[in-house]
Amino acid sequence: MVELMDNRQTDCSATDSDLSFADNSASSVNSSNLSEACFDGVSTDQKNKISHSDTRMSDSAVIPDYLQQTYYWSYLNPRNVNWLDREPIVKAILWWQHNKLRNAAFSEIEPASSVLQVAAVYGDFSKNLAKHIGTDGKLTLIDIAPIQVHNTRIKLAAYPQAEVQLADAVASSDSQYDTVLCYFLLHEIPDDYKTKVIDNLLQQIKPGGKLVIVDYHKPHWAHPIKPITSMVFDTLEPFAKSLWRHTIKEFASHSERYDWQHTTYFGGLYQKVVVQKKAD
Ligand SMILES: C[S@@+](CC[C@H](N)C(=O)[O-])C[C@H]1O[C@@H](n2cnc3c(N)ncnc32)[C@H](O)[C@@H]1O
Repeated sequence: MVELMDNRQTDCSATDSDLSFADNSASSVNSSNLSEACFDGVSTDQKNKISHSDTRMSDSAVIPDYLQQTYYWSYLNPRNVNWLDREPIVKAILWWQHNKLRNAAFSEIEPASSVLQVAAVYGDFSKNLAKHIGTDGKLTLIDIAPIQVHNTRIKLAAYPQAEVQLADAVASSDSQYDTVLCYFLLHEIPDDYKTKVIDNLLQQIKPGGKLVIVDYHKPHWAHPIKPITSMVFDTLEPFAKSLWRHTIKEFASHSERYDWQHTTYFGGLYQKVVVQKKAD
């Protein structure tokens, strides 16, 4: 495990070297070393919002082993984050289905509502979500990686309805939301973590609210993209294929307490699952 000091107060101005976690030793993000460079073009109000927006949970966040060992190259390495965080790359990775999937997720979300987005998404996803909710709504985004928090705070600096917090998706919170949205996180985490994340997110939906999950699903046997997806999963994404073997509902500890609506897309390669608490 790599222990990171909490950067929630000022990490928006972190530089690449402040956010470099190349080894397995304990790494800290120290606000006193940080530059103001990332605030270029950001107003004072926005700076204050970015710097003092966090209210959630513990004083430290721990990068889980699966993230450090499997996804360091894509989410923690500052050089790669720089070039991967682009809309065309997300679109290509999702076989140009990203807009359709994003719209399917957003169609579950009312303007002016409160939304928890669990884990950063590259490209313009969160900006579009903030626009969709509007200034009468509230978007809270959490991510476990300081570099992703830093990056996303910059992307969302112009949206007063959005705040970004450093937190693990399994960390409990007193807050509840109209919608909790989990976009392509589950396939990247081990199965025991999938259960913890889903159980925890279900605790954070308001009465009448919903959990919306968009992720991979087992494609039709004759899907032309199945062999390459299978190869990519076997090589780079060791926790993804369990979404081919299990429904998302099977990971929840108390699935019987909820209604589960399931829609598949693009020959079954992707799925949207909408979960709502059953009436008592
Ligand atoms: C949402 S997933 C993948 C999204 C999608 N593939 C994309 O295009 O960006 C990637 C993010 O999940 C975050 N993450 C991984 N495990 C997490 C956890 N337990 N809690 C919060 N964030 C987590 C990573 O730091 C990373 O920023």
